[in-house]
Amino acid sequence: MSTRASGSPPRIHAITLGCQMSASDGADTVASLLRRGWGRSEELEDADAILMTTCSVRRHAEQRAMSLIGRLREWKARDPNRVLVVAGCVAERLGSRLTRRFPYIDLAIGARRAESYSELIAAELEKKLPPDSMKSATAEPASTVSFLTIMRGCACACTYCVVPSVRGPELCRRPEDILSDARARIRSGARELTLLGQRVNAYSGVHEGRRIDFSDLLRLLDGLPGLRRLRFMSPHPTLCDDRFVSAVRNCNNVCPGLHLPIQSGCDRLLGLMRRGYTRADLLSTVARLRDAVSGMTLSTDIIVGFPSETEEDFMQTLSLLEELRPAAAFCFKFSAREGTPAASLPDDVSPRIKEERLARLNALVDRLTAEALQSQIGSVAEVLAETPYFGRTRAGFKVRWRTAVAPGSLITVCISAATRRTLLGDLNEPTA
Ligand code: 5AD
Ligand code: SF4
Repeated sequence: MSTRASGSPPRIHAITLGCQMSASDGADTVASLLRRGWGRSEELEDADAILMTTCSVRRHAEQRAMSLIGRLREWKARDPNRVLVVAGCVAERLGSRLTRRFPYIDLAIGARRAESYSELIAAELEKKLPPDSMKSATAEPASTVSFLTIMRGCACACTYCVVPSVRGPELCRRPEDILSDARARIRSGARELTLLGQRVNAYSGVHEGRRIDFSDLLRLLDGLPGLRRLRFMSPHPTLCDDRFVSAVRNCNNVCPGLHLPIQSGCDRLLGLMRRGYTRADLLSTVARLRDAVSGMTLSTDIIVGFPSETEEDFMQTLSLLEELRPAAAFCFKFSAREGTPAASLPDDVSPRIKEERLARLNALVDRLTAEALQSQIGSVAEVLAETPYFGRTRAGFKVRWRTAVAPGSLITVCISAATRRTLLGDLNEPTA
């Protein structure tokens, strides 16, 4: 049974799976429930409701969601008043297939309704856990680093990707709404904003009667008082034109750390993936960015074992990474997703070869990461403290130090060593 004392607010426990957008949808919904008088529960057992946001980009991610939902059967059975909400891409893709398989889900709500998650979920929760038991609202301060969705869906048709069919066409939020959302987050303590979208630099909106693009939006947000850093995820390589490059260079708060998914270094596979660029395009895009923005650091996404990938094709990906030298890369084995064009190609790279290529790729990425971290040793970096002992540099490197500082402060750290993924250093003078 729930341990909730009568009169105390119901408590929500959030489980987020998948990308940053999925995590941010979950976090925003929980924040809105807290403002309505809910409490938060870190422990499953103390929770009156669970909100799970899910991912279906790879089969493995979807299976993980299913197995977690399966394990929550017991949690539900122990108290019939508990409420289980499953949101996000799995709920969208599977629809009633999901609720038929797990009939104890109280509400399944797909990613296309993410804009109205908070209201829909609150209404459903409050039917079962009525608001008259609520006391005062607990508005948690925003964390130093905040994620802000500026557009949803995707207008691309990459042949491996389930997102366009699951999340639907590209829809951009209005600039006014983005600006007021950004101001609200800064007021409640955010110092760094990361703008989110599947192809974030495809943004388009109308501001004060004029059509604006992503570069204009960056300029509008860059000037917000109190903001120290602006990031965005993920730009599409075909949309990094000169306007984009100059906005990244000229906006003081825009950080020189870019997550630019490249997927492959082989032109034949890039064509089959329908990515819209070649290896040469990537090299010139990255060269333009690096010429314009000093210290520009990259991270990327790579897929191995796409249908028909040969050893030579794979070697092209390795050699492109050697040339581009990203500081990090997220590498995935191709996963055939129902309904995508690539799912009708023969999935002819054997699981053993996919595994072996993934291991070789990860070994290369580990080396590139180590080299990028080593190159920072001896530098003095501006770091935004996210916790008393942890923060990130402008380029996006993680840093730890040993003297507590207030989260949200900008400090300078003398970098003296590195672990596998993190820089270590000692505090200099606070700069703000
Ligand atoms: N198989 C493997 N990886 C995929 N990604 C997207 N779809 C698939 C798929 N079907 C990867 C891409 C993308 C990241 C979010 O997930 O690299 O950039
Ligand atoms: Fe997963 Fe993609 Fe959906 Fe994000 S948008 S939750 S990565 S399927």
